[in-house]
Amino acid sequence: LSPARAADSGARPVVVAHRGASAYAPENTLAAVDKAAALGVDWVENDVQRTKDGELVVVHDDSLQRTTDVEEVFPDRAPWKVRDFTAAEIARLDAGSWFDPAYAGARVPTLEQFVRRVERYDQKLLLEIKNPQLYPGIERQTLKVLSNEGWLDRPHVRHRLIVQSFGADSVRTVHDLEPGVKTGFLGTPPVADLPAYAAFTDQVNPSHGSLSSGYVAAVQAFRGPHGKPLEVFTWTVNDADTARKVAGFGVDGIITNTPDVVRDAVGG
Ligand code: G3P
Ligand code: CA
Repeated sequence: LSPARAADSGARPVVVAHRGASAYAPENTLAAVDKAAALGVDWVENDVQRTKDGELVVVHDDSLQRTTDVEEVFPDRAPWKVRDFTAAEIARLDAGSWFDPAYAGARVPTLEQFVRRVERYDQKLLLEIKNPQLYPGIERQTLKVLSNEGWLDRPHVRHRLIVQSFGADSVRTVHDLEPGVKTGFLGTPPVADLPAYAAFTDQVNPSHGSLSSGYVAAVQAFRGPHGKPLEVFTWTVNDADTARKVAGFGVDGIITNTPDVVRDAVGG
């Protein structure tokens, strides 16, 4: 297909539930995966970080303060950084009540727990390595968890898994360690730099605010490390008008807190 294949062919962008279906259930919890599955959404995004004792957990901020009750449980541990708490301490936290009391008791999942829940529904995973500069070696460790869960052995792993990051070095490391895994770079690199990115990333994933049809076409004109045109998944699009706009630009995927709204607007 041509660079502007999605727009030209009428192909619909895939819809990705951002942090799970995070408009309707607490972000990055198993409940948010359940909600995405209930909505019939088969791509789920998450954020991976590391605890003090080396466990990979799924949480967005580098502090636990916003999305858990850590301030009540550990009042003397400000600023409540993920990396300053053990996995056992984090497992005690309530990651649901801040969102809605109906979700009281939801936990910060380990990456292993999250992957198993995604697997249960036969969903696909857009895994973000968050703040990689804080966690040396997190790329190898993430791939190890995925391998242990059988995700790297699957014959069509490239259709089921994408590992992305805002850190270009992190994306490159994932590609070097496990070249079969599809990768994504979060950001909007200048077009002149795209050949360098295309050596290690299959996707360039910009904020929708920095997107234009020209930029999408420019990205898609390059081929990535697997010989396919680079893809564009854009974030975080939560309303129908913006979804239709970016679909018109020809994006390959839309990352959204409201996957039902986006799907109704653009299909997918
Ligand atoms: O998947 C893209 C998006 O999640 C990047 O931004 O801050 O929500 O992790 P953020
Ligand atoms: Ca993310």
